[in-house]
Amino acid sequence: DVSDDFIAGLPKAELHLHIEGSLEPELMFALAARNRVEIPFASVEEVRAAYAFSNLQDFLDIYYQGANVLLTVQDFHDLAAAYFDRAAADGVVHAEIMFDPQTHTDRGIAFGTVIDGLSSAIHEAQARHGMTVKLILCFLRHLDEDAAFATLEAATPYLDRITAVGLDSSELGHPPEKFARVFAEARRLGLKLVAHAGEEGPPDYVRQALDILHIDRLDHGNRSLEDPVLTARLAREGMTLTVCPLSNLKLCVVDDMRDHPIDRMLREGLRATINSDDPAYFGGYIGANYRTAVDARGLTRADCATLARNSFLGSFLPDEAVAAHL
Ligand code: ADE
Ligand code: ZN
Repeated sequence: DVSDDFIAGLPKAELHLHIEGSLEPELMFALAARNRVEIPFASVEEVRAAYAFSNLQDFLDIYYQGANVLLTVQDFHDLAAAYFDRAAADGVVHAEIMFDPQTHTDRGIAFGTVIDGLSSAIHEAQARHGMTVKLILCFLRHLDEDAAFATLEAATPYLDRITAVGLDSSELGHPPEKFARVFAEARRLGLKLVAHAGEEGPPDYVRQALDILHIDRLDHGNRSLEDPVLTARLAREGMTLTVCPLSNLKLCVVDDMRDHPIDRMLREGLRATINSDDPAYFGGYIGANYRTAVDARGLTRADCATLARNSFLGSFLPDEAVAAHL
């Protein structure tokens, strides 16, 4: 009895969304033509057919390639504006979106180009949808600590527009401890801290994210459940987990949606939330992620309300704004 209208009508915050992962094939083609960039696909259908992944790295290879069509302030604006329109239709009233500056600066795109395009779309979303938006700068963990420091340095003129730093890309072999110093510096600058951990990586990576990076929020966190002591600690500390069901299925973090642990997370007392990660690549936006979790795991309306409530509690909004959303 959880209808699509109920899901869409539930005010919610999206806390785990890579803006580069919201690049729909149609926009990829339009931007490729506009910018005269070659893409290795003949049609939108061919692009969609290529979106069959067996793990995180498989996906990342194609995701970084897709981002090559993004060159100008207008491109970043159009990318983000399309996301905000879709998110608003799904009942998102607040979004904390991640971007990967190194994916762009390593191609010669200025940091300012990226952030100016995103900023103008954010202002438009505020005006058109009444949506509030925060930006999370993610470091690519397959690159080294020096590159992360250089990125934080490039962000210095724009820190008033950035709420948090995060850690994404290839998890295995790139443990959180690799970024201890740059996270400490980000914290010193007053930024909030998030990190992907326990998506493909072991529970120890989650422990490092907590004890070495001192994260304020955990992205994914699925594999925490393998460790009862860690799970109990996450529950006790009220840590928010930004869970992404369709992503977990497409990247084979779960083999079948019927095995997804979202309801177990709630039962274990974890502050779990539902998010879309890279919706253009994984088959749907936040509403579709709620839908699949409801259908596969039998979530109730009350569970959905809990997940939506958790999204505000886990957000970086000031306390008064959180209270106003509950
Ligand atoms: N970058 C974009 N999506 C990601 C994910 N699910 N895990 C790690 N890095 C990512
Ligand atoms: Zn992610």
